[in-house]
Parts: sequence; C-alpha cells; structure tokens
Amino acid sequence: MRRYLYLLSSLGILVWSPLAFSAESRGSQLYKLCEKCHGLHGEGNKDLLVPSIAGRAEWAVKLMLEKYKSGKLGKDPGDEPAIRMTSMARMLNDKDIAAVSKFVSQMKPAKLEPTIVGDTDHGEAKYAVCSACHGKDAEGNQALNAPPLIGLPDWYIFKATPKYLAATGRRGDVTVNPEGAAMVAGADTVKDEKDRRDVIDYIMALQGVRGKSEEKKESSNKEKATVMPSVEKKVEAPKESK
Ligand code: HEC
Ligand code: HEC
Repeated sequence: MRRYLYLLSSLGILVWSPLAFSAESRGSQLYKLCEKCHGLHGEGNKDLLVPSIAGRAEWAVKLMLEKYKSGKLGKDPGDEPAIRMTSMARMLNDKDIAAVSKFVSQMKPAKLEPTIVGDTDHGEAKYAVCSACHGKDAEGNQALNAPPLIGLPDWYIFKATPKYLAATGRRGDVTVNPEGAAMVAGADTVKDEKDRRDVIDYIMALQGVRGKSEEKKESSNKEKATVMPSVEKKVEAPKESK
C-alpha cells in the first residue's frame, strides 16, 4: 500500500486521506488535478481546446464527468479533446466526482473572451430551437440532461455542436451516447457555419459577452454586424471619422 501511494505521488497524482478533509476541501484538493488543463481559476485554455468550467451548474459538471468516465463521450477516435478528458475522468470515483463538481460550481465564473461574431438577430431566431432544451437564457435543463450553454467559450460551442451530427462525430450516436441523440436535431439546424456563428453570437449576447468586433459596439444597436461584410456593407462609419 505504501509503495502504491508512493508511486501515485511520484506520478504527481494527489494522495490524501479521505478522513482528513471535508467534502469541500476534498473538492479543492481534487481540483489540483484539473488545473494544468482547465487553469488555476477554471478559465480553460483555448490552445489546448479545454473549455472554461468555473461556475458551471453542479449537476452539469457531474453529468459531463460521468459521461467521460463511462465513455459515452470520448469513444469517437476523432474526438481528441474528449479523449484527453476521458483519461482524467476515469481516475475519479463517484465521491470524487461529487466533491469536485461541487467545488467547480462554486468557482467564480470565468470571463469569456469572444472570438466569434455573427448576426445577433438571426442568431436569436435560430436559438428558438435550442431554447426548447437548453432553456430561454441558455441556463440548461437538468430534467432533459441538456447542459447550460452560458459559461462555455464560443469556440467550444462552435466545435462541439457539429460533433452531434453523424457525418462529423459520434456524440449523437444513440448506441454510444443515448442522451446525445436528442441533440442531433438541434445540431442539424445549425450545421451551416454561418447559422452556427449567428446562434453563438446570440448565446454570447445573452450573457453580456459581445462579439469581438468593436465596430459592432460602436455602430448603432440596430445595425447588424455580419460574418460576410462583403455581402452587407451598410455598417456605419466608425466614430473617429465623424
Ligand atoms: C489533460 C487535460 C485535462 C484535465 C487534466 C482535465 N480536463 Fe476537463 N476537459 C479537458 C478537455 C480537452 C475538455 C473538452 C472535451 C471535449 O471537447 O469533449 C474537457 C472538458 C471538461 C468538462 C466538460 C465541460 C462541458 O460542460 O462541456 C468538464 C465538466 C471537465 N472537463 C471537468 C474537469 C475536471 C473537474 C477535471 C479535474 C478533476 C478535469 N476536467 C481535468 C481536458 C482536461
Ligand atoms: C431536443 C433537445 C435539444 C435541442 C433542441 C438542442 N440541444 Fe444541445 N444538447 C442537448 C442535450 C441532451 C445535450 C447533452 C448531450 C450529451 O450528453 O452529450 C446537448 C449538448 C449540447 C452541447 C454540448 C454541451 C457541453 O457541455 O459540451 C452544445 C454546445 C449544444 N448542445 C448546443 C446546442 C445548440 C446551439 C442548439 C440549437 C441550435 C441545441 N444544442 C439544441 C439537447 C438539445
């Protein structure tokens, strides 16, 4: 046993006595395992395709950890980020998952850096479908196992959504991830990249995160920024030139 513990600590894996910590500090101890990918404050890491998780609903963190652990997510050989997360989740037992989920949910939500700009109004129309499961304010719906979309980085939503389509991934394969099958119809409505950008722009707008273009803020609220400026050139001149 001692040798086993020594081996674990020499691998940099955390060792603790279950009795020595309350559930909460156990969560914070466990979070040390997550830090190198998800960051000190749960802010995520775009370069490593790691989403922010700080402040996500406890049930949603738990749900996702259980999915990675059971292999419902991370089975697809092409879903490399999910595979990386799977190897982490497999090291956690049910109590660990409960404790770390609680800890993560209590972290201060990360500030999202917008990287995707779209047509907010068109995105709002597109979001009507998503709202049936993910909620009017993208807050998620535990009864439907639909995670909150707020708090997730825009680039992550952009990449994750099409993975539910049979053509691009197996997240929606009913034999692999039964809950994911519900999401296939949703993913299908935004399989077009422009639609996806628009709906994501709206999801970001819902939580007060605007598109990256400053001109969007500076132009009148009614004027729409678009992913294809060549098609719609009616954007007002920036302030400086007035
Ligand atoms: C080796 C890097 C790595 C480590 C360590 C790691 N993660 Fe992750 N995590 C990822 C990646 C990459 C993803 C995105 C997976 C995907 O695209 O499906 C992810 C996704 C998640 C998600 C899903 C977010 C969502 O709702 O979509 C949760 C929750 C999560 N991680 C929690 C944790 C927790 C808690 C720990 C520590 C116990 C941890 N992770 C450790 C890389 C890591
Ligand atoms: C019929 C219900 C339903 C609809 C409609 C739906 N979703 Fe989902 N969505 C789900 C469920 C259930 C999951 C969890 C799937 C899983 O377990 O892998 C999910 C997962 C997701 C995820 C991954 C979340 C994460 O934490 O990794 C994203 C992103 C997403 N949906 C975006 C959308 C968008 C955008 C729309 C609208 C265009 C949409 N969904 C419409 C049910 C739905």
